[in-house]
Amino acid sequence: KSKSQAQGKFKAEQLEIKKIHIAGSGAIGSLLAGAAEKQGLPYGLYPRNPVFQVNKASIEKPEFEPAKTETPTPYFVEWTDGTEYPIRQINSNKPHLSPSDMLVLPLKVHHLKTALTQWLPLIDKRTPVVLLHNGMGGYEIAKSILPAQQPLLLATTSHGAMKRTSTQVIYTGVGNTQIGIAPHLVSHKQLTMPEWAKSVCHTLHALLPPVRYQTDIMKALWAKLAINVVINPLTALNNITNSHIAGEQFANERKTLCEEFAQVANACGQSFDAIEIEQQVIKVAGLTASNYSSMHQDVKNQRQTEIEAINGYIVNMAQKKGIEVPLNTLLTKQITARLT
Ligand code: PAF
Repeated sequence: KSKSQAQGKFKAEQLEIKKIHIAGSGAIGSLLAGAAEKQGLPYGLYPRNPVFQVNKASIEKPEFEPAKTETPTPYFVEWTDGTEYPIRQINSNKPHLSPSDMLVLPLKVHHLKTALTQWLPLIDKRTPVVLLHNGMGGYEIAKSILPAQQPLLLATTSHGAMKRTSTQVIYTGVGNTQIGIAPHLVSHKQLTMPEWAKSVCHTLHALLPPVRYQTDIMKALWAKLAINVVINPLTALNNITNSHIAGEQFANERKTLCEEFAQVANACGQSFDAIEIEQQVIKVAGLTASNYSSMHQDVKNQRQTEIEAINGYIVNMAQKKGIEVPLNTLLTKQITARLT
C-alpha cells in the first residue's frame, strides 16, 4: 500500500504551528516527516550535517548546500499498519523560520553544536526549538548557542524507527514522547503553559501520539538516561538484543550500574532509588525485547556512538561530585575502544 496523498487534514485552526522543520533525516527525523505527510502538515526535512555550508566571511549568510552522504530523495516511511508515506528531503531552498514554524532537532548530542550554529541565522528569536535525543548534554549546548529567551523544549522519545534500506524507514514500535520547557524558561509564578509550548505539544501530539508534557523535564531525561546507561553499552558490547539485559546473566552489571547511576543522579539534585531504577530497566528491556539498542546499531555500523552523552556523562558528573563509578568508567572505555 502506498499513499502519496495526505490521509488526514491537519487541524491547523487549533494550532499556531504552520510548518515543522526537521533538522536531521535519521530514523526518528524521517518518522516525523512521515507523520507530517500522513497528517497533511507542511514540513521540511533536512540533511543532518552540513545542512548549510557556512560562508567563511560571515556566519550571518549561510549558503545552503546538500549533504553529500545523505539518503537520496524521495523515500518511504512504512507506518505500523503497513501504509507507506513518501517523504522528501529538501536540499536546495534556504529556509527562514517564522514564529509560527517550529524546528525539531532529532540529532545525537555530538551533532547538535554544528547543527544549531548553522540554523541560528535562519530562525526567528520566537521560533520554538525542540531537542530530541538520548543522553544528556544537549541542553547545555543549546543554551550556549541560542539566545537566552529562544523558546526551547527538551524531549525524549521511546518510539522505535529503523532505516531498513536507503529508501525505506519503518515505524517499528509505538512508544511515547515526553516533553517539557527548558528549565531556564520555566517561571514558577506562571502556572499555565505558555502558548508557544502548547502549540508545539499539540502539533507533536497530532503527528506522533502520545506526547506527555512534563513540568520537570530534567527528571524525565534522567529517568530515560538510567535505562540507556544499562541497556545500551551492555547490548552493544555483547552483540545481543535488549531482552538479555532483563535476564540473570546480567544481574550483577545491571545492579551495579543502577547503583552508580542513583548515586550520581542524587548528588546532582535528583531523587532516584537504585532498586526502582533496576525494575524500570528490566521492564523496558522486556518491552523492547527484540530490539537492538541504538548503541548496538551504531557499533555494528561503525558510527560514532552516544557513549559520551550516556555513560560518559555519568563518569563526568561523578568526577565533579567526587564519586567513584568504576563500571560506568570501564564501559565508556570499552565502547570508545570499539570505534578506534
Ligand atoms: O537507545 C535505545 O535503543 C532506546 O533508548 C532503548 C530504550 C534502550 C530501547 O532500545
